[in-house]
Amino acid sequence: MGPFPVETERLLLREFRAEDEAAIHAYAADEEATRFTNWGPNTKEQTRAILESWLVVQRGWPREVVPLAIELKTERRLIGGTGFTPLDLKARTAVFGYVLHRSYWGSGYATEASRALLSFGFRELGLHRITAACDTLNTASYHVMEKLGMRREAHHRKDARKHGRWRDTYIYAVLGEEWRG
Ligand SMILES: CC(C)(COP(=O)(O)OP(=O)(O)OC[C@H]1O[C@@H](n2cnc3c(N)ncnc32)[C@H](O)[C@@H]1OP(=O)(O)O)[C@@H](O)C(=O)NCCC(=O)NCCS
Repeated sequence: MGPFPVETERLLLREFRAEDEAAIHAYAADEEATRFTNWGPNTKEQTRAILESWLVVQRGWPREVVPLAIELKTERRLIGGTGFTPLDLKARTAVFGYVLHRSYWGSGYATEASRALLSFGFRELGLHRITAACDTLNTASYHVMEKLGMRREAHHRKDARKHGRWRDTYIYAVLGEEWRG
């Protein structure tokens, strides 16, 4: 349920399905793909549990979390995940994120998926402000946000802990009135 999929030139942003488990686990269990994420690397049980929770939340619309699969149209293959986590339609704000299987990095897919997601958020959902966070060492991630025209609004010092180390976080944001797609 919900106004999906969102289609781009090369990608489909669609809801998750039970049969996606192996494709999700292929990136969610990868140490390198999850080096900077605030979750993972996942065990099989963790991937199964998160997918099950997504299948439940997907039954309703509107809703507070909008997890979406990134599917490569030519291969009909799930190559990553994105979505609004959370989405607050009352406050007209959302936070988004993205992760791709390592084999699909460096082809502009994250930028393409995010551009479509932000356009959808501003134009279809009437959002006012969309933000995203990343580890300050995650160059690829903040490059994506800068290519989208997002603004670095904050540098949080040692606010996140992963693998026994404190990490710094950048917060990026863009307003609906600034968004040109
Ligand atoms: C972040 C991620 C989704 C980017 O996906 P992608 O499809 O490769 O991104 P794009 O190709 O759209 O753009 C990435 C940009 O960063 C640049 N980049 C990528 N890796 C880089 C690196 N190590 N150093 C500097 N720049 C880098 C690319 O050159 C590109 O910029 P360009 O188009 O100007 O050349 C992908 O690397 C990923 O899944 N990482 C692991 C998960 C993750 O960290 N998610 C974000 C959590 S906040």
